[in-house]
Amino acid sequence: MSIFGVLTGGGDCPGLNAAIRAVTRRLMADDHDVVGIRNGWRGLVGDSIVPLTRGAVAGILPRGGTILGTSGYNPFREEPGVQALLAKTAALKIDGVVAIGGEGTLIVARRLHDEHAYPVVGVPKTIDNDLAGTDVTIGFDTAVQTCTEAIDRLHTTAESHNRVMVVEVMGRNTGWIATASGIAGGADVILVPEAPTAIEEACDHIRRRHDHGRDFSIVVVAEGYRLTHRSGEQDAPVIQDRDRYGYARLGGIGQAVADAIERLTDFETRVTVLGHTQRGGTPTARDRLLATRLGLKAAELALAGTWGRMAAVHGNEISDVSLEEATASHRPAPSGWIEAGRIVA
Ligand code: F6P
Repeated sequence: MSIFGVLTGGGDCPGLNAAIRAVTRRLMADDHDVVGIRNGWRGLVGDSIVPLTRGAVAGILPRGGTILGTSGYNPFREEPGVQALLAKTAALKIDGVVAIGGEGTLIVARRLHDEHAYPVVGVPKTIDNDLAGTDVTIGFDTAVQTCTEAIDRLHTTAESHNRVMVVEVMGRNTGWIATASGIAGGADVILVPEAPTAIEEACDHIRRRHDHGRDFSIVVVAEGYRLTHRSGEQDAPVIQDRDRYGYARLGGIGQAVADAIERLTDFETRVTVLGHTQRGGTPTARDRLLATRLGLKAAELALAGTWGRMAAVHGNEISDVSLEEATASHRPAPSGWIEAGRIVA
């Protein structure tokens, strides 16, 4: 009998609990012990371990957030650091860890595995859907659904007031959420970092709509979009602040886009920033199914001792890739999706 640990790291998203449940139940089915590591990697340098039983994971499938808590703690950068983590893992007699996380959490997993032969497998989650090595990550579908519902609501008020409504969505440096929810919500303009439309072109399109009697418009902008001008020049990214390592926290481009649209078109314009509502709420059926399938796969990898891998989806099949491949690069939104959004606008 072995002892396996499960943790969730980085930003939360809907579907994490479904993954925790699947990992726990699969490992318990083979009579192993499972412990929950609280607050991401931090739980392995402190004293934050909770036993996970069938009862402990009962009823959590539809719940958003994570019953284990989460943090962005990185033992390679913060005290008490890697040696403390290795010592704690040994003291707890943990034979392997399933780390459910995005880029930051999985980079830690990769380094622990590569540099210290640490027994870890990953499960991909992030609403941003920007992890390499998998077609989709846990949380993306729910975030897109949340944004699409918001866009639907904004349509009716935009139409009533003849306004331009700018909706700022998350996604860090990619436009997956903006593209998917923009298409699903019927946005008139979708602004993403991968293929940034010039603001003048966006305004031309909005004016054309007005000329054809459609005197309201919905503009979806990804937080990572940089205000782009017809000349090709781009303004600096709009950031809220920087974390202690100097990484930018994006947010605020919606207002800059709205100001530019109002200035260039003279149409009354309002901004809605969806912010962390995109990370909250109950997971969609698709995210529950995805999280369950990926969680089961990660448990299988752990049972086989196939460390240094991440459960992944390719097409309709669940497979696995190396943590190295998963964390090597960001995966941009497909150009075909971005083009589709332009064609139907
Ligand atoms: O990576 C998920 C995400 O929600 C991004 O879309 C966003 O830029 C960031 O996290 C927000 O981080 P925080 O919760 O630390 O403000």
